[in-house]
Amino acid sequence: MARILGIESTCDETAAAVVEDGVRVLSSVISSQIELHARYRGVVPEIASRAHIENILPVIADALAGAHVTLADLDAIAVTHRPGLIGSLLIGVTAAKTLAWTLTRPLLAIDHVRAHLYSVMLGGAVQPQFPAVGLAISGGHTALYELRSFEDVRLIGSTIDDAIGEAYDKVAFILGLGYPGGPAIDRLAAQGDPSAIRFPRSNLSRTSLDFSFSGLKTSVLYHVRGHKGKERTAAQLSPQQIADVAASFQAACVDVVTTKLKRAIHQTRAKCVIVGGGVSANRGLRADLPKLGLPVYFPDFAYCTDNAAMSAGLAMLDLKANRIAGLDLDAITHSEFALTKPGA
Ligand code: KG4
Ligand code: ZN
Repeated sequence: MARILGIESTCDETAAAVVEDGVRVLSSVISSQIELHARYRGVVPEIASRAHIENILPVIADALAGAHVTLADLDAIAVTHRPGLIGSLLIGVTAAKTLAWTLTRPLLAIDHVRAHLYSVMLGGAVQPQFPAVGLAISGGHTALYELRSFEDVRLIGSTIDDAIGEAYDKVAFILGLGYPGGPAIDRLAAQGDPSAIRFPRSNLSRTSLDFSFSGLKTSVLYHVRGHKGKERTAAQLSPQQIADVAASFQAACVDVVTTKLKRAIHQTRAKCVIVGGGVSANRGLRADLPKLGLPVYFPDFAYCTDNAAMSAGLAMLDLKANRIAGLDLDAITHSEFALTKPGA
């Protein structure tokens, strides 16, 4: 049995978790900075790193207390060291290195996107069959992967402009909803007519596995503003009209994701689909993707948005394989995955 402390500070959540044997979550503590960033309608990197400094030690203490363990009971320390905001990453990486060194425990270095995909494993109920298609959808990432295992992952497509969660957040702003916008649009979409407005679906070429959401977002903006000369704002729309825009926007997102997944499944001969990241909490996607005709795994709601349990869980594979990081571990802003296909 191995007990791993995970630390996550890639963006605007300070999180720590204790996970046993890669799947049993003994504790998962997340300190959200949403209120600090809401007035700026997005994450301000400098504010995020300062908040991480204040939060990191109390969050780690809470995770240990919640798991009823002490530092001495830990077998390893895992940290999400990429990709993310450099100032934010540095806080988690420094905390993890300090603990690993003072406790003389192995340090494990985790990629945040790979950890989002691993989230489906937490709880131990899911046994995916490989090859699988991985879909990472969040505020910072929108990408498709071919997985032969959680250790053998290849990037096969990604967004060429906005991430899907970013599009949700921007459309929510256009509609006068709060930040982050994903949950608000998801809620409103349930009350609207998804066929009220036909927003564009950008599929790029006939075979492309890449995504583009900026045209869709602009199209929502033009729809809300109305024709030139009679510019309006969302405040002039009725609650039903706003719900219809939310539902129609969500329908376009779900359509695009479904089309890309069908292509990826066909190209990789996948046996299942693994979804991860903040947008995997979306009810529209959760209702539609199972219609693809093969098993589609979503994380529990608690592990969709940023958390440290996913990193502590995934780290078990590194510990088993003896992939131990050195104390010179760096924080890195980009993901470990790069597109290798021609023209990417
Ligand atoms: O994974 P995450 O916490 O952070 C990143 O790694 O980016 O994802 C946050 C994103 C935000 O853009 C938020 O609006 C979106 O996930 N989100 C949702 C939902 N819940 C969170 N988007 C659509 N529907 C939801 N229910
Ligand atoms: Zn994330």
